Amino acid sequence: MIRKIVKITGIVLAGLFLLTAVFYLVAYQDIQERINKVYDINPEPITVHYDTTSIQLGTRLAIAKGCTGCHSADLGGRIFIDDAHKLGYFVASNLTSGKGGLPEGYGYRDWVLAIKHGIRRNGKPLFIMPSHEFNSLTERDMGAIIAYASNLPAINREFEKSQLGPLGTVLTYLNKIPLLPAEKIDHSRKMVKQVKAEVSADYGKYLSATCQGCHRPNMKGGEPLAPGFPPVPDISSTGHPGSWTHDQFVTTIRTGKTPEGKPLDPKEMPWKSASAFTDDELTAIHLYLNSL
Ligand code: HEC
Ligand code: HEC
Repeated sequence: MIRKIVKITGIVLAGLFLLTAVFYLVAYQDIQERINKVYDINPEPITVHYDTTSIQLGTRLAIAKGCTGCHSADLGGRIFIDDAHKLGYFVASNLTSGKGGLPEGYGYRDWVLAIKHGIRRNGKPLFIMPSHEFNSLTERDMGAIIAYASNLPAINREFEKSQLGPLGTVLTYLNKIPLLPAEKIDHSRKMVKQVKAEVSADYGKYLSATCQGCHRPNMKGGEPLAPGFPPVPDISSTGHPGSWTHDQFVTTIRTGKTPEGKPLDPKEMPWKSASAFTDDELTAIHLYLNSL
């Protein structure tokens, strides 16, 4: 009897092991194909102005849009996720011309390909770089960010190559982490010259593109973005911000503390970056959120 139970348990375990192995192999194959897919995209040409107004705007946008949050304040890059044996080892690239930085001759075409399309110079998709949030940037804002970023002092900071781990492979396969934003971008979308800057829900919609990655396109929040992160709250009219005044909304983003007294962790909710928006811009965002 006992022998029989041991035998059956053994068979079941071996079966489970085999199933897991087959599942992993299927996931691995699929993800490898997607990582190595070469996209044939010809980015739109862009005129970049290096005047003071443009560079100042670019400086502010690079903070507000989170570029400095991930690529570090000097845009010299940093290790973004250091978990090689599980999720993966990911570096937010050194965007300067220093050692370990962007390759020689990196031009406007390459910048637009990366920022708007989430694709690296060789046509393959970038990991994690949230280009789906930057895809709608106007030519003016895109140009300002490029003017600012490509004019920074060279930083020598070298890293090992980013690498997807086994857990990262499985979670990407199950669509649980946004590894390849290039896959969900409408690459044919045309760049708009400029959006009218005014305190309106329309302008707020444009500005809030960077909130959507986490709070979801309908701003109703949802599950955590990755294991170990908190769930993302509803910030539309049906969430807490729906009952706040514009002033309270602006103060929340400036201080990282909600009117209900809840402190927001800047590593989870990047309020320090969002603080680079002006009061009018934040009010426009709040108007838009309240319209949802
Ligand atoms: C959530 C973090 C995050 C944010 C926000 C972010 N990036 Fe990135 N970015 C990355 C990562 C990670 C990579 C590297 C991906 C890789 O190597 O596969 C990357 C790659 C790039 C590249 C390509 C570099 C190369 O080696 O080809 C450029 C250019 C770039 N980012 C510019 C920007 C700009 C400009 C902004 C702001 C508008 C920005 N990024 C915002 C994470 C981020
Ligand atoms: C990297 C992901 C991420 C991005 C980008 C992001 N948020 Fe959040 N946000 C969060 C998370 C997670 C929380 C909840 C934090 C917590 O529970 O401590 C949050 C909380 C908030 C809250 C407080 C809600 C409440 O119920 O108290 C507001 C308001 C908010 N976010 C607004 C914004 C706005 C506006 C933007 C865009 C400018 C934005 N967020 C971008 C992840 C993000």
